[in-house]
Amino acid sequence: MSFPLHRYRRLRATEPLRALVRETMLAPSDFVAPLFVVPGENVRQPVPSMPGVDRTSPDLAAEEAKRLAGLGVLSVILFGIPDAKDARGSSSADPEGPVCRAVRAIKSESPKTVVMTDVCLCEYTDHGHCGVLADRTVDNDATLPILVDEALAHAHAGADVIAPSDMMDGRVAAIRAGLDGAGFPSVPILAYAAKYASGFYGPFREAAESTPSFGDRRAYQMDPANVREAVKEVLSDVEEGADIVMVKPALSYLDVVRAAKEATNVPIAAYNVSGEYAMVKAAAQNGWIDGKRVTLEILTSIRRAGADLILTYHAREAAEWLGRL
Ligand code: PBG
Repeated sequence: MSFPLHRYRRLRATEPLRALVRETMLAPSDFVAPLFVVPGENVRQPVPSMPGVDRTSPDLAAEEAKRLAGLGVLSVILFGIPDAKDARGSSSADPEGPVCRAVRAIKSESPKTVVMTDVCLCEYTDHGHCGVLADRTVDNDATLPILVDEALAHAHAGADVIAPSDMMDGRVAAIRAGLDGAGFPSVPILAYAAKYASGFYGPFREAAESTPSFGDRRAYQMDPANVREAVKEVLSDVEEGADIVMVKPALSYLDVVRAAKEATNVPIAAYNVSGEYAMVKAAAQNGWIDGKRVTLEILTSIRRAGADLILTYHAREAAEWLGRL
C-alpha cells in the first residue's frame, strides 16, 4: 500500500520542508555547561584530555558564565578542586572553597545564569571515594550528613540548583530535608538518579583529581548492564523529592534515558560525559570525523531519546554553531 502512493522523499527534498517536519529541536537553552573551578585568581589550566575545557579560578568561571549566557546557554554546573583533602572530605562545605566562591562570582557577574553545583565528596576526600570509608567501602549512612552540609554551603552561597552525584541511598531525601530546614524550600534538586560505574569518566577524573586511590566505584554506582534498576532509582529519587532526574553517561545509555522519560513526568537530564567528549575531539583532531556534524548529531540523539536538558562540554561550541545555522 505504501509505494508508489507514498514517497517519503517528498518531505526530505528541501531544508525548509525538512525543518517543518523535524521532530527534535536543539537549542542553547537545553545545555548545561560543566565548569571546573580551582582556588585563586586569574588561573587557567587546560585539561589535556578535553581540548577546549579549562580549569579556572572563580573570577574566570564568572567571565565564562557570562559569555555562555550571551550565547543563550543559561545554565552551568560547578565542580570544585580544593586545596586540601582529608578522609571525610571536610573542605566540601568550605564557604571559601572554589565552588562557593564561584557561585557568588557568577551570580554577581551574570545574575540570569542558573548555577548548579555538583554535590559529591570524591573531589574532597584524600582516598578519592564519594563518601566516608568504613572497612574499605563507602559508609552510606555516615556520608549523608556530610553531603547535606556540602549542599547547604552551596545554597548559602547562592546556588540555584543542587545536584547530588554520589549515588548514596537516601541522599535526595536527606538533602531535601536539609534545604527545607535551613530556609531553602525553593531550591530544586537535580538528582544523578541513574549513574553508572562507567569507563567514560576517565578525563573528568583527570580534570577533577577524583580518581579513587584504591578499588573502584562499583559498590555504589550502577552496573552498566541494568536498565530496570535504573527505573527503580529514578522513581525513588522522585519520591524523595528530586525535581529533575539524570541519566549518566548519555550515549551508551540512550535506552535508559527513554525508560526514565516513560517512567516519570519530571524533567529528564542526561550527562554527555567527559569520555564521550574526548572521543569526539580526538577523532575530529585526526580528521577522522567531522566534529561539528557529529557533535550536533550526538546532542540531537540525546534529546530524541527523551532528555529535556543535556549537561555537555560541547555547550559553548554547539551554541555558537546553532546561532550560525
Ligand atoms: C562525581 C562525578 C563524576 C562525574 C560527574 N560527577 C565522576 C565519577 O563519578 O567518578 C563525571 C562527569 C564526566 O565524566 O564528565 N562527582
